[in-house]
Order: sequence, then structure tokens, then C-alpha cells
Amino acid sequence: MAETKKLLASLQGQVQDVPPIWMMRQAGRYLPEYRATRAKAGDFLSLCYTPELAAEVTLQPIRRFGFDAAILFADILLIPQALGADLWFVTGEGPRLSTIDAQADFDVLKPSDSVHEHLSPVYETIRILSRELPNETALIGFAGAPWTVATYMIAGRGTPDQAPAHRLKEENRPLFDLLMDRITAATIEYLSAQIESGAEVVKLFDSWAGSLTGDDFDLYALAPAKRIIRELKAKHPDTPVIAFPREARDRYVGFAKATGADCVALDNSVDAAWAAENVQKDCCVQGNLAPQHMVTGGQALVDEVHRIREAFSAGPHIFNLGHGITPDADPDNVALMIETLRGGS
Ligand code: CP3
Repeated sequence: MAETKKLLASLQGQVQDVPPIWMMRQAGRYLPEYRATRAKAGDFLSLCYTPELAAEVTLQPIRRFGFDAAILFADILLIPQALGADLWFVTGEGPRLSTIDAQADFDVLKPSDSVHEHLSPVYETIRILSRELPNETALIGFAGAPWTVATYMIAGRGTPDQAPAHRLKEENRPLFDLLMDRITAATIEYLSAQIESGAEVVKLFDSWAGSLTGDDFDLYALAPAKRIIRELKAKHPDTPVIAFPREARDRYVGFAKATGADCVALDNSVDAAWAAENVQKDCCVQGNLAPQHMVTGGQALVDEVHRIREAFSAGPHIFNLGHGITPDADPDNVALMIETLRGGS
């Protein structure tokens, strides 16, 4: 029988001397080979929707660094587009979408089970990757969590404080709830299809979970994750789920138990020793080196890798950054991070 992949072993609760490692945004602009393939595709969305090229950029960091996992190359904003929202990217600024501020904007959205035709190139990318990845490399699929996706759909862009989404939630709760429900149902469709195409793990990115407090956190971060995980596990009981309620602070405690997630990803504001005691007691944890070290490198990077590895050494752990690597990062620092982790002492 084939040996269990290192990433899957940690997700099953195994404590490993050298934890598996991958990196958020590992396929990206800090890599010259990514920039070359992206130039060939023309623009970012064409890259996402061209299976051969999306598979190629997914494989690039695996070839260069030998990470233990590959993450599907796509974007969390493909779901709004599949639901009928307009989506485009402004160079140097980020995503733009049609906005939702009234019932009429919601009424034109498509039903959740109609997303597959639009997303079929993503499923094809996964099928290519299942064939081409090395045997020891796990394949991670993903989607945005409903709250984070809703913040972009409502505002039509990224916002520092998610104010438009909070405003709609307070001023028209029935409409906000309808939107959350539509995104949640579409996400279940999308992740199920990713698993059926060959994704071995799925991750839910709730990048803006930190702006939800009190009951809102329960209603809009925890409950949708719980529903998504319950429905995925009903169909695919053996596929692990990683939840990333970024900047959830003390709400990281109990998040895995409450949602059924197999692992929670920790952002770099979380103290590793605290999380080892309060979060890792329930589940595998992923994280949480500050992405800045991929820019600055040096002894500080080496020391941080050791500190984080040590802090989480008593339980299941997946080494990762606390957020995505930035375009100004130096690939040599990525190599140093991996060498430090795998090189031991
Ligand atoms: O991690 C990976 O390597 C897999 C692919 C992936 C991308 N985006 C590719 C991407 C994943 C998992 C994402 C998730 C994503 N996308 C999130 C959640 C995680 C997070 O970062 O908080 C969010 C909020 C988005 C939405 C999004 N996509 C924004 C705000 C931007 C613009 C900001 C930027 O970095 O340019 C993107 C574009 C994007 N998504 C790029 C990549 C590699 C850069 C596009 C380019 O090549 O110009």
C-alpha cells in the first residue's frame, strides 16, 4: 500500500517530527516562472480559466521547492462570477465586481446548483493536477468562506473594514441572509465538485472573519462553515477540511469542534505557544510564520521557523505562513525556510 502523504497524516492527527509544509499563495508573482506564464495567459482570470496554464502555475512551486502540498490555482472570487456577478481585476489595485445593495441586485443571481458550467475549467485543472503531481504531494482545493465572499460581492471590491457588508447586514438583514445562504449553497456545490475531480483536502478562506464580533461571528463565520463541512462530510467523509477564520483571535478556541473542521489555519497575529495550548488540543493546526520573513530572510527567519516548529511539536501541525506570501518576497528565503524546517536541529 502507498504510504500516507505527509500532509494527510497530519490532518489525520499524526504528530510528525518534521511537519509537512506548504505556503499560502505559493504560486504567485514572487516567482519569475509565474510571471512568465501569467504573461502568456494575458490576464489573471484567463490564467484561472485555462486549465493547462492554471495547472502549470500550480506545479511551479512544487518543482522548485518540493512542498508537501499543492494548492489549486484559482481565486475565491470565481464563485460570485459563477453566480452571475461581473468580475474584473484592475492591475495594481485588485478585484472589482458588480455590487449588491438592493433586492433587485440579488434577484438576478443564478441558483447555487447552476455554477458548475462556469466552473468546469477549474475542475479540469484539478483532473490534470491529479495526474501530474508527484505521488507524495497532496492536492488542496479551496473556496472563500461565505462572509468573506459576501464582503466582496456587496462592496464590489476589497475594503479595509468591510463597512458596506456590515451596513447591509444591519440595514437589510433579510437580504444579507439570502445572499449568505446563496453563497453557502454554491460553495457546497463547488467544493463537492472539486473533491469529485480529485482534490484531497479542501480549505475555506475566511480572510475577513476578524471583523465579525459577538453573535455575528457565530452567525456568519461559524454557522456557514459548520453547514458547509457537515454537507461535504455527508458525501465525502474522508476528505479533510482546513478552516481559516483569519484574525479570529480568541474565537479560534473551539472553532474546529464547533464546525467539524479537521484543522484550523492560524494567522500570524496568534501567539504559537498560546495556540498550542488552547487550539491544538482539539485539532491539527496550520501556520503561522509572518509572511514578512519571506522578504527579510536571515537569522530572524531561521529563529522563527525553529520557534514555531517547537511550539507546535507536541501535536499535529502543518507548517505554513500566517497569510499569503507577498510579490516582493525573495524565493531564496522560501528555500531557506524549507531547508531550516527539514534540516532538523
Ligand atoms: O494560494 C495559492 O497559491 C492558490 C491560489 C489563490 C489565489 N487567491 C491566487 C491569486 C488563493 C487560494 C487565493 C485566495 C484569495 N483570493 C483570497 C483569500 C486569501 C487571502 O489572501 O486573504 C482573497 C481575499 C482573494 C481575492 C483576491 N485575489 C484579491 C484581493 C486579489 C488582489 C490582491 C493581489 O494579491 O493582487 C487577488 C488576485 C490573486 N489571486 C493573485 C493570485 C496569485 C494575484 C494576481 C496576479 O497575478 O496579478
